Amino acid sequence: MNGKVHIMDHPLVAHKLTVLRDKETSVKDFRELVSEIGMLITYEATRDLPLTTREVETPICKTTAPTLKGKKFAVVPILRAGLGLVDGVLRMVPSARVGHIGLYRDETTLEPVKYFCKMPKDVAERDVLIVDPMLATGGSASAAIGFMKEYGCTNIKLMVLLAAPEGIELIQKNHPDVDIYCGAVDEKLNEAGYIVPGLGDAGDRIFGTK
Ligand code: PRP
Ligand code: URA
Repeated sequence: MNGKVHIMDHPLVAHKLTVLRDKETSVKDFRELVSEIGMLITYEATRDLPLTTREVETPICKTTAPTLKGKKFAVVPILRAGLGLVDGVLRMVPSARVGHIGLYRDETTLEPVKYFCKMPKDVAERDVLIVDPMLATGGSASAAIGFMKEYGCTNIKLMVLLAAPEGIELIQKNHPDVDIYCGAVDEKLNEAGYIVPGLGDAGDRIFGTK
């Protein structure tokens, strides 16, 4: 069975994504919006975190109330553009550890090339959320998921802002155990491998490198 695709169905996310797509949006606003939308999708991606209970004394009385079970969690951005989403995840899950995977798409072949990898020592015991704004051909995310499996990780989710149908199909084919959380699914890829209508080059827009 394929992993589920969770598409955010929320007016705040829809509105913020439209501002993100606008080519006139400044680098500062783009960066802030990526972080905010990341925070909102994290809310959905953490819906199944296990809870336990603890005693708490309110100003009124003692009670037993829910608290996170403290299951270990790691957020893994795909460099560079994934870095833009880390802050939003950490605001929701401050105790998360952060691992980094450096990948870039070869502009001719569109194949991902790895240039960096640094993980928390105990990453195999952690639930892993891989983050990247764009799921285009799916090559980068599929390779990143493969690396995390080589580390021994068994509970992996993928969070993106925009996905192309081609990218979703590749993840479902290569990694049917991985659920995808995305802000929206766009129409298609163009011949250069960009998402249409998309938002352009996410890394360049986050870091102002164009
Ligand atoms: C972008 C994006 C993804 C990848 C998606 O990164 O952030 O990592 O492309 O494309 P794919 O699904 O076809 O693999 P890019 O390679 O431009 O590197 P950058 O983040 O350093 O800009
Ligand atoms: N990477 C991007 O940054 N944008 C796209 O549309 C596709 C891949």
